[in-house]
Amino acid sequence: MMATTVPAEAGETNITNEDAEHVFQLDAVSFSYHGRHEALIDVDLTIERGEQLVILGANGSGKSTLLKMLDGLYRPTSGTIRAFGQDITDVADDPVRARELHRRVGLVFQDADVQLFSPTVYDDVAFGPLQMGWDKERVTREVARALEQMNVTHLSDRAPYELSGGEKKRVAIATVLSMEPDVILLDEPTASLDPRSSAVLVDVIAGLRDLGKTVVVTTHQLEIVPLIATRVVVFGDQERRPVASGNATEILSNAELLIRTNLVHEHLHFHADANLMHSHLHGPEHHEG
Ligand SMILES: Nc1ncnc2c1ncn2[C@@H]1O[C@H](COP(=O)(O)OP(=O)(O)OP(=O)(O)O)[C@@H](O)[C@H]1O
Ligand SMILES: [Mg+2]
Repeated sequence: MMATTVPAEAGETNITNEDAEHVFQLDAVSFSYHGRHEALIDVDLTIERGEQLVILGANGSGKSTLLKMLDGLYRPTSGTIRAFGQDITDVADDPVRARELHRRVGLVFQDADVQLFSPTVYDDVAFGPLQMGWDKERVTREVARALEQMNVTHLSDRAPYELSGGEKKRVAIATVLSMEPDVILLDEPTASLDPRSSAVLVDVIAGLRDLGKTVVVTTHQLEIVPLIATRVVVFGDQERRPVASGNATEILSNAELLIRTNLVHEHLHFHADANLMHSHLHGPEHHEG
């Protein structure tokens, strides 16, 4: 989200180390809301360039808080965060550097209403590109592309508040895609999407992977994990930090882990084998086009 309109000045773009091997590096990051509610505790996490990382975790385990930290919206209570090789721990207090970070990292919020504030869908999707200072042709082109990608071109002239939950979510995703960020953070993007829209989003994420973009997705929908993840990290709701990391097959076949971390309920059926078969047929390594 663009929190500021401070113009970026030449020579101030120090969050641009293209050679940095890690997109994000968190060292011992903790965060408390209002100094009371501990949302993240001692998180060590590295995210590599071009990864498609899925973050799983029960309600309240800190997933949304983590994405907001990666987007530089919150300052850690302790620990350090680096992005593209630069220390961004204090970026929330520095509008110029925050703006520079937001040129490269786009966050789609869990609640689409937070993201949509313009009179029309078109204006919302054009907001980021206009803030980037792109010329008119480029803005028009990128907005059209993002609307098309999320299958919301027909909603261009509608008021965002008049849309359904799933339509809002798709528009919110388009507002980030239109800026062509290097890193896309998606907080439960399929939560309110019907199966066809979820499949569209899975394809969009595959397309981002093919472009070499880094994508971080939180979800509770285990069935999409094998389709999008090159790596999965599981947050523990008591620990409020990663308790497991592996590929989709390793994580989804670990029933004990999934039950312990409240990602599946032992009384609800979970067809791990079906997921693994799906992963084998359609997983990232087998994606065509
Ligand atoms: N604005 C806030 N003020 C106070 N506490 C908060 C706030 N937002 C989140 N928390 C607390 O921080 C912890 C982590 O919340 P967070 O939203 O990051 O979890 P989450 O993993 O995204 O959960 P969900 O699956 O429900 O979206 C929870 O205990 C929550 O109650
Ligand atoms: Mg959340």
